[in-house]
Formats: sequence, C-alpha cells, structure tokens
Amino acid sequence: MDCEPKNRFIPERIGTLPRAEALAGGRDVGNKGVGRPATLDRTARSRRIEDPLGRLTIMTSLFAGIQDAPLDPIMRLFEAFNADTSTKKLNLVVGVYTDADGKVPRLRAVQTAEKRWIEKGLPKTYRPIEGTKPFRDAVQALLFGAGAPILTQNRTATLQSIGGTGALKTGADVLARLNPGATVAVSNPSWENHKALFSQAGFTVVDYPYFSAETGGVDYPAMRAYLQDLPKGSIVVLHACCHNPTGADLTPDAWSDLAPLLAERGLIPFLDIAYQGFGDGLDADAAPVRLFAESGQEFFVASSFSKSFSLYGERVGALTIVAENPAMKTKVESLAKRLVRASYSNPVTHGAAIVEMVLTDPELRADWERELAEMRERIRSMRVRMADSLQQRHPERGFDAIKAQKGMFSYTGLTPAEATRLREEHEVYALETGRICVAAVNTHNIDHVVDAIDAVVKG
Ligand code: LMR
Repeated sequence: MDCEPKNRFIPERIGTLPRAEALAGGRDVGNKGVGRPATLDRTARSRRIEDPLGRLTIMTSLFAGIQDAPLDPIMRLFEAFNADTSTKKLNLVVGVYTDADGKVPRLRAVQTAEKRWIEKGLPKTYRPIEGTKPFRDAVQALLFGAGAPILTQNRTATLQSIGGTGALKTGADVLARLNPGATVAVSNPSWENHKALFSQAGFTVVDYPYFSAETGGVDYPAMRAYLQDLPKGSIVVLHACCHNPTGADLTPDAWSDLAPLLAERGLIPFLDIAYQGFGDGLDADAAPVRLFAESGQEFFVASSFSKSFSLYGERVGALTIVAENPAMKTKVESLAKRLVRASYSNPVTHGAAIVEMVLTDPELRADWERELAEMRERIRSMRVRMADSLQQRHPERGFDAIKAQKGMFSYTGLTPAEATRLREEHEVYALETGRICVAAVNTHNIDHVVDAIDAVVKG
C-alpha cells in the first residue's frame, strides 16, 4: 500500500515527514515527501499536522506569498462608509446617483419593464455569449446614432458584458492576445480601476497628461504632445464623456483633432462611456464615439448601463469593437466570444432584458430619456449651487470649475489632508484625490457639504 499521502497536486503541502525529521526541519529527507521537502520556505507561515500514524505534514498556506495590498481607494472608502454607524454620514465617494431625497432611484421605465418581463413568465435560460441581437442593435444605435452608416457596414461587433468594467476587461483580454506587451495610456488622473485592470491583463500602463489643476479643465496640448510620441500599437484609454474622476471633458475641437492623430500614429483608441446621458444628452455625449466611427479606424468602446438605468448591481454593459471590415469583425468577435466563454460563459439575463425592453419600446424609451434628463439636470443644478457658494467664499481656490465640469464627478481641488478632515470631522466621505460625487448632493445636504468644504479649506 502506498502510505505517502496523495498530495503532489496540492501546492501548499510542502512536505510529509516522519515526525523526528519533520521536527528537525526536514533537512535529510530527500524526495520522500512531495518533492521539495528540504526547501521549506522558512519565511512562510507553516503549520504542522500530525496524522494517526504519528507522521507530520508540514503545511504552508498556498496563500502565504500573496502580498498585502489595499483595495482601490473607491472601494476601500465605500467599505469604510458602509461600516460607519453614524446616521449623519454622507457618501460622496462612489459613483452612484441619488435622487433629491438621497435615494438610489428605481426608474419608472425600469420598473414598468420589469413588471412586463415578469408577467411574460419567460424562463431564465442562458443568453447567447454575445447577448441577444435586439440588445446589441440597441447598444449600437445608442452609441452611433440610429441610422448611422456604420450600423449597416457590418464591421462592428457588440457583446453584452458584466457592466462597463467587464467590457473593459474583455476588451483588455482581446488586446492582450493581439498586442501583448503593448503600452496602455490612461489619463492622469483616471478612474482608479483602469490601471489595475489593464495591468492585470499584462500591459504596462502609463499616464498621459490630462487634467489642469489651474484651469479645472483639460490640458489638451500636453495630452496631444504625449500621445503623439507613444509607440505604434499602444492603446489609449479615453473617457468619451463625463470624465471620471475630474468631470473635465475634451472640447469638440480637441476630439476632432485627436481622432485623426491616433489613426496616423497607429494607436488603438479604447473609449470608456460609462455615463452616456449625464453630460449634455445621449447624442451629444456619444459624439466622440461617432467621430471615431466616421474616421474609419479600428477601436474599442466599453458601455455601461449601471448609472443611466440605475441598475448598478445588475451588471449590464457592452463591449463594442469596430473593425476595418466585416471579415475582421468576424475574426475579432469570435476571439472575444472564446475569451468570454472561458471566463464567465454567458452574460446576465435579468438586467439586460430590462435594458433591452426599455431601449426598444418607444414609450418606455421616451420615459427613460425623460428620467435621464431629470437626473442630468438635477446634478447640473447642484453643480451651480455648490460652485457659486464655494467660489464666493474661496475665490482663490477655483471652485467655479465645478460648474463647467460634467457628469457625476468633480475634482474639487481638495488636498488629501482636507479630504481626510472632511470625512473625520464632518462625516462627508470623499476620495483623497479631492474627487466628489456631485450626483449624491441634494437640496437637503448641500449646505452641509458646502459648509464642510468651507471649514476644511479655512483650515
Ligand atoms: C466610481 O468611479 O465610483 C464608479 O465607477 C464605481 C466604481 O466601480 O468604481
């Protein structure tokens, strides 16, 4: 009988030794155990397990080598916020829209669609890997505009994804197969997860100049100069609208200059559009995507429906890949589908069915657009009030930029120390970069937010 434990496939089990040898540290055991008994890693935490025959198995955890690293600041502070038992706490950390009463809205159109969908009693079977055709068509129409020439050119593949993050991830995985070792350039600053996501996919991530603290807007000349020197084949991540975290967007002129520049330099644009409808409107916010479509170049787009449908936890998004021609589209689509199949297999049913129904039913669609406009306008009115009030109190700090910034976020210019005091002394949670979620400010809490910012700025 083979008395040796069948443990070769368990990497954490580093040695099974007779008790005396094990206690002596396993030096003379040769290959009796699992092949590496004499190379016991003394830095790893190990534990000794004795079996009924008195033999010792020295175990060290599979996980001992994992380096401690904090969660990204958004999720770390979001967790801290959730753990805070104060009733006065205010979450300006995470990008979630709350209504005039501070509630995450259940949109009318979404509720009606959910009711209808449930009434239909449809089974929740697997969805196609790429999502249903009506869903994909609706996403493309939203991005490119109904009737856009690209919609009939058959060079665009759309796949339903696990939120906008999932779209970025699948896109990154596709690109990692095609362009391994490429550089990915993200704006400085960018959404915290962009860097993590592309690094995890194996890319070297660099920052391109973007935000100007002096103007509260974009330093396009610096951005342009940097991008034009990137090696061919580099991937450039762009926020199509409502830049996260600054709220500062490129002007239409800058976009018109950028699209041909990237094509000329052989750079691959990857547009992230997580806030379509929160800037100037559904069509206006998609203008950069449409510009790239007209330019004829190949590019990627990650869409999210988390914010625009207030369906955060349903994880509905889409990856769209625009190829040079139908043959290339078929190739890249099949690669993306293979990657998805081996990753999470199929996308979610419920949230996507709701988004699909709202986007394709004229009555629900019109209602959703109204609700989206209400959300956009409410944020805008809070921007104006905050900016005016703070600007008046601290004209030297450039708070009036909050008014011109778009979408859910603003870079307030608060220092990390000020943001910490905001949290610790006023229970207003903001990122230490000074990013606040303006979409969580309302008429009930705006005075508190403004007074708290005022107090920490005064020092
Ligand atoms: C944010 O930036 O706060 C949102 O996009 C939520 C997230 O996942 O980080």
